[in-house]
Amino acid sequence: MYNKLEVEIALLESKAISEIKTIVSLQGLEKIKLDYLGKKGIIRSYFHNLKKIENVEEKRKLGAIINAFYDKLTAIIQERASRLKTEEINLKLQNETVDITLPVRPEKVGKIHLLTKVISEIKFIFAHMGFKIVDGPDIEDEFHVFDALNTPSHHPARETQDTFYLTDKMNNQKMLLRTHTSSVQIRIMEKAKHFPIKIVAPGRVYRNDFDATHTPMFHQVEGLYVDKNVNMGQLKFTIHCFLKKFFASKDLKIRFRNSFFPFTEPSAEVDINYKGNKWIEVLGCGIVHPNVFKNVGIDNTQYSGFAFGIGVERLAMIKYQIDDLRNFYDNKINWLNHYSVHFASK
Ligand code: PHE
Repeated sequence: MYNKLEVEIALLESKAISEIKTIVSLQGLEKIKLDYLGKKGIIRSYFHNLKKIENVEEKRKLGAIINAFYDKLTAIIQERASRLKTEEINLKLQNETVDITLPVRPEKVGKIHLLTKVISEIKFIFAHMGFKIVDGPDIEDEFHVFDALNTPSHHPARETQDTFYLTDKMNNQKMLLRTHTSSVQIRIMEKAKHFPIKIVAPGRVYRNDFDATHTPMFHQVEGLYVDKNVNMGQLKFTIHCFLKKFFASKDLKIRFRNSFFPFTEPSAEVDINYKGNKWIEVLGCGIVHPNVFKNVGIDNTQYSGFAFGIGVERLAMIKYQIDDLRNFYDNKINWLNHYSVHFASK
């Protein structure tokens, strides 16, 4: 004779077993476990009801049945859990297999633009000659780009057709995109406390011009050397050393041509003749004008200096034989691949 509880438990058992067998996730199994074996689970409630039974013999018999059910279910759940775990691992292994026979995926490595490379070549040479590398802002005021550089207000360089002016003023001054890096000379001299001043300043400059030989943005490297008794001979020597080193050519032909800049006196433009090609102008230079020293509060009876401004694109075009300036900025992938260099190369 089965008593009522035995029947009930047998039914419960087959229900639980079928639930356990069909569950496919460990999470689901955990829930079943709680439902049956948990603190608030079904089996607990059976134990709870046992307390109400007074007949000890009966109590023991029923207790044993519930216990057996508890143990059996625990074992089944454990077994199912370990099976699900294995399945999960197998599935992971299957999905994450790596085919080590596949060829390596090609990795695209970024490159350095030719202009960046040329600028670092220039910096490298001047750094070896003891020049410090500095920079200044692209957005400037009229004082630093023109007035302090002895460029009077009627000078054509200040006309809007050359200069990009900003609409907003700052400190009552017109703001603009610097038309040359000479503004950095002013910024450096304004706060100079120690001499000599010996700097180069690479950077972008902007002029309202666009054709095969002009782009609205290009690069210059400004140089400035201020000390006692600085002279034209030193300027020539510095420029000669630089150009010969840059073009790795001892017999590069260099010519100084008389010229005019408001901020240098005397002034010169320098042309080079590389590998028997035609003469090409690559930089402007000269002896710092006394008015410039006055404008930045340096005693021009004590100090003198030379300055130069190198056209970076020009140098790059000559050295790497590029015939159209606009190539630098077209960003054509073939051109970039051909003329750019990897990070590791010097
Ligand atoms: N700033 C001049 C230019 O842009 C170049 C220059 C720099 C000339 C320093 C003399 C001294 O053309």
